[in-house]
Amino acid sequence: MKARYPLHQYLRAAKIMKQLRAIKTKEEVAVLQTAIDITDNTFRRLLGFIKPGVMEYEIEAEIMHSFLSQRAEDKAYNSIIASGDNARVLHYVFNNQPCNDGDLVLMDFGARYGGYCADLTRTVPVNGKFTKRQKEVYNACLHLHNYAKSLLKPGISIIDYTNKVGDEATKQFVKIGLLSKADVKNENKDELETRPFRKYLYHGISHHLGIDVHDLGTRTEPIQPGMVFTVEPGIYIEEEKMGIRIENNVWITKNGNIDLMKNIPIEADDIERLMKR
Ligand code: GLY
Ligand code: MN
Ligand code: MN
Repeated sequence: MKARYPLHQYLRAAKIMKQLRAIKTKEEVAVLQTAIDITDNTFRRLLGFIKPGVMEYEIEAEIMHSFLSQRAEDKAYNSIIASGDNARVLHYVFNNQPCNDGDLVLMDFGARYGGYCADLTRTVPVNGKFTKRQKEVYNACLHLHNYAKSLLKPGISIIDYTNKVGDEATKQFVKIGLLSKADVKNENKDELETRPFRKYLYHGISHHLGIDVHDLGTRTEPIQPGMVFTVEPGIYIEEEKMGIRIENNVWITKNGNIDLMKNIPIEADDIERLMKR
């Protein structure tokens, strides 16, 4: 090409594609919304299916049945169905344990439709009712989820955002008795990995989402309108054999973001009510 058309300029496509791909048009988001709606219907179906003794893989099977019977292309990634202490394993792959009465089950799953990936996480009580402590930790996680969502707007970088969510996580973890004031008094906020809150929240809060579940895009530059991110804080407590994560998908606008999963039940009371029915 260069020999034949010497006056043209030749550039590598990958860098350009990476930038183009990070900004989603409304047509792309409409397709993603279908993937999300299929995932929403699937979650509601699970709320009527989960009960003590059910195997994690039986929940996985329900998910695939629901996705395919709604004409999804496939799952966007391998479903993580992690009951009890398994929920602390971030990319739990076995899905082979019984869901026990009194435990929570963390379910991270999403449909792929028209090439686009949904990425949902919900954590629900196996027997349909949260204990007092489970609800306390759940609500702390939901608070972090909502707080994180409120920060995701043009201008902030994912790195700075992660640190800010960390500040709020620190406060919440003191409040629910995971950290003491002394633990956090002299923390070095410049070293994310050494911050005390990381003991209970040891992964990122958001990633780009699109054609890939972990889509291409920058973490260090200011985010821009049109980008799509997950919001997925978690709280993982080894001492209590418990893990909770709550994950939604949002589309960045000029001044904030639109929660593409706003219809999917998220409040503890709503989950309990739907499981009872
Ligand atoms: N399902 C993988 C993730 O949430 O990042
Ligand atoms: Mn996920
Ligand atoms: Mn995710």
